[in-house]
Formats: sequence, C-alpha cells, structure tokens
Amino acid sequence: MKKTSQSVNEETVTSIKTDTMIKGAASAVKSESLAGKVAAPGDKSMSHRSIMFGAMAEGTTQVRGLLEGDDILATVGAMKALGADITREEIDGEGVWTLKGVGAAGLKSPSVHVDCGNAGTGVRLIMGAASAYNIDATFIGDASLTKRPMARVLDPLSEMGVEYESAEGKRLPVTIKGKNRKANFLKAIDYTPPHASAQVKSCILLAALGAQGETVVREKVLTRDHTENMLEAFGVTVDRQEVGAGQIVRLEGPAALTACDVVVPGDPSSAAFAIVAGLIVPGSDIIIENVMMNPTRTGLFETLVEMGGWIRADNFRKFGGEVIADIHVKHSRLHGINVPVERAASMIDEYPILTVAAAFAHGTTVMDGIGELRVKESDRISATVAMLRQNGIEVEEREDGMSVTGMPKVLSSDVIYAKGGGHVITHHDHRIAMSALVLGLMSETPISIDDRSMIATSFPEFFEQMESLGANMSVKA
Ligand code: S3P
Repeated sequence: MKKTSQSVNEETVTSIKTDTMIKGAASAVKSESLAGKVAAPGDKSMSHRSIMFGAMAEGTTQVRGLLEGDDILATVGAMKALGADITREEIDGEGVWTLKGVGAAGLKSPSVHVDCGNAGTGVRLIMGAASAYNIDATFIGDASLTKRPMARVLDPLSEMGVEYESAEGKRLPVTIKGKNRKANFLKAIDYTPPHASAQVKSCILLAALGAQGETVVREKVLTRDHTENMLEAFGVTVDRQEVGAGQIVRLEGPAALTACDVVVPGDPSSAAFAIVAGLIVPGSDIIIENVMMNPTRTGLFETLVEMGGWIRADNFRKFGGEVIADIHVKHSRLHGINVPVERAASMIDEYPILTVAAAFAHGTTVMDGIGELRVKESDRISATVAMLRQNGIEVEEREDGMSVTGMPKVLSSDVIYAKGGGHVITHHDHRIAMSALVLGLMSETPISIDDRSMIATSFPEFFEQMESLGANMSVKA
C-alpha cells in the first residue's frame, strides 16, 4: 500500500487546485460513437456534508471517495478556518481525508473571511452550522455566489435568534454575529420553506444542533435527504415523517455529532453528462460505474427512460450508506415528454443537460415548475435557452420553464446534427459549460465555451473521462 501524508494547509489546497484546475476556453467537435467504462466522481452534496460534519464531530472521521473539486476544497478551507484539523493522505492513488473534529470545544471565530468560492451548498450549510455556536464569522464567495440570494437561509436563521449583517438584498458578504449573543442556545422553530431546497432544510437542521428544543422543517416536496442520512450516521436522531410528496423533519437540540467514517459514492449529477452523450451520439455503448441511486436524486434517469432512452442500472450494491449501481447506456431514438413538475426536486441540477437530450428527441419536451433554476450558479433558464438558440435548437422560454423542440427528422435513418457553431457564455456555471460541450458532440460545426475553469468545481476529470469514451473535446490555454 503506497501512503503519503500531508497536512492540508493553504499550500496543499492550492496545489490540489492547480492540478485539477482547468482554465481557459474549450470546444467540442462532432464525434463518432462513444464506447468504454468510466467511474462517476464523488458526489458533491455528500462530499460537502462529510467535511462539515467530520469537522464538527467529536472524534476522528475518515472520508474516502471525496470529490476533490474546487467547491469541496473551499469547504475544507472554510472548516479549517473555523477550527477543524483536516489532513489528506494518498493511499494507492486515492485521497483519504482525516478530520479531527472540534467536538465539544465547538467551532471558533475565524481570523480570516470564510471564502466559499462558487458553492451555494458550502456557504448556506456552513452559515447554518456556524450559527449554532456563539462565534462571529464573515462569509464571502466568488462573483457568481455573491449574486445569489441568501435571504432563504438568513430569514429562518433570524427567526432562530441569529443576528447578522449582509450586503444589500441579503447577499454576501454575510457576517454571522454570535459572539456577544446572550443566550447559550438558539430558538427552535417550526418552518415551512417557501422553496423546495435541500440547502435551506440543511441550513436549518445544522443550526438546530445548537437550538433548545425541537426544530421542525416541513417540506412540501421531498428534496435530497443527505443531511438527514448523514446526521443519523453521525449519531444524531432525526425524525422523518412522510406527508404526501413531502416530509416533516424533526430534530431535538442541542445535539452533538460523533465521528463516523464516510465513503462518498459517485455523483448522479455528474454521471448525467456521459449518460446523455451516450444516448445522443449514434452507435454509443457506455457504462458509468458507482452511480448513487438515492431516489431523491434519480429524476433524470426516470425522465430519460420515459423519453425512450436505453438505460439499464445493474450491479446494485450498498456503498457508504447509499445504494449505488453501474449504468449502461446505448444510443437511443428519444421522444419528447412533459416532465412531471413534482419530479423537479429530484433532478434540479440536471435540466441544462436534459435540454441537450431533448434537442435530439422527436417532438417537444416540456419542463415546468423550475423557476429555482434562475438562482443557481447562473440563471440557468436564460443561460440554457441562449446556449440552445445559438446552436440552432428551437426553445421556448417561460418564467419558470422551457420547452425544447427536437430535430425534425430525428425518426428517419439519417443522423441529424444540430447546427452548432455557437460560442457559449457559461456565466461561471459548470453545468452550462459541460452541457454545451456535450451538445457540441452532435453539432455540424464545433461549439466553444468562453471558460472551462468552473468545471473543476464539480468534475475535475470531465475532459479526461469524456475523451476516454471517444468524445472530441479540446481545450485552449
Ligand atoms: C444541493 C441542493 C440543491 C442543488 C445543489 C446541491 C445540496 O440546491 O441545486 O447543487 O447539496 O443540498 P437547492 O437547495 O438550492 O435546491
């Protein structure tokens, strides 16, 4: 077993970042059939949570399979600034992360601003976690994160007794002011989030660890449940009651976390790019291994199957507390469908890449109830619509939806390509960048993107993996 050990200080984080950082423009060119096997990178949602929870717990947590993308490295930096001891060693080519949690000593006021980079999940969850302690902390992020709304977490935190200062419109920078708080505990609240959001639910549950009494979150629609699952694995009792399409979650505070090793499974949201590429490029036959099949995350797979996609999940097994499977995909003749609105939460990050599949489907694919896409890393409805139109795809934009009409001759035996040729503005959004490049694989003229650096937030090995499957993608310095 080859083992190298290092403490994760600023330099280590920078060196990992430099290795995985993908800068500059990129393009994708019409490609022949895709073939081969790749493994999905570690799940971003679970990676964030494993670092946060390990950093807060009593004892030592080891995390394997962590997504070493920029978003997660920002969370590592944030939790170190808040007092956790985090190291990484390389064992047989795999990063193994060890976290000595702060436990009963609690998170401490950081001496620097806590920079969460591009990550909405990072900043919203860590603000909740930090609020549970009597500390001051100022949170900042990049240009995209600074524009994103924080009211959705600041409002419930404020009901719990958290004091803060923020930039105009309840945006970053945000300073949580807990140092001079008189009360030892926050107030437990009973809250119904106005948006279906796992980040909001998770922020409240993390703050509830430092509240006195039972905090209740009522979700009208069930969102990804990784916080509930992982809190339970770290020894916290979380009561969940299914109610219609939603749930009521209850957490009795104050509550403490006990260290628990985590193995992070593959990210279904990242697997989505190869899956759609395999479906649209004629003759393709590919396998994506280790994909997490948590039902709160698999809405895209259901949708693509309903559209006629040849997708088989095999080799189901339990891994790191989640069910994972290998996904086998073959090129398919797709047809448009109305995507059920109630499915949106389980595929919220997958709409940009779904529109690429829809572009090659016979008929129209209607996607509604997705207004939340307007406040992601970019306004994903307008960025996706611009990407499609620039490349010759017909799309209708609505305030909270889109309809994409696929290539007219798709049912004939001829292969139909998109016009392509567009230079896509990614607006610092990794999922817009990767979706545009997948569209380029089936375009007459290559598609380029202005900036590929953000792809490293969630999928540092994207180019390497797509090329290994036979996709024609190239990068410019
Ligand atoms: C996430 C929740 C979702 C999702 C994001 C990850 C999480 O955001 O879009 O990429 O890990 O909790 P919302 O809670 O804003 O829907």
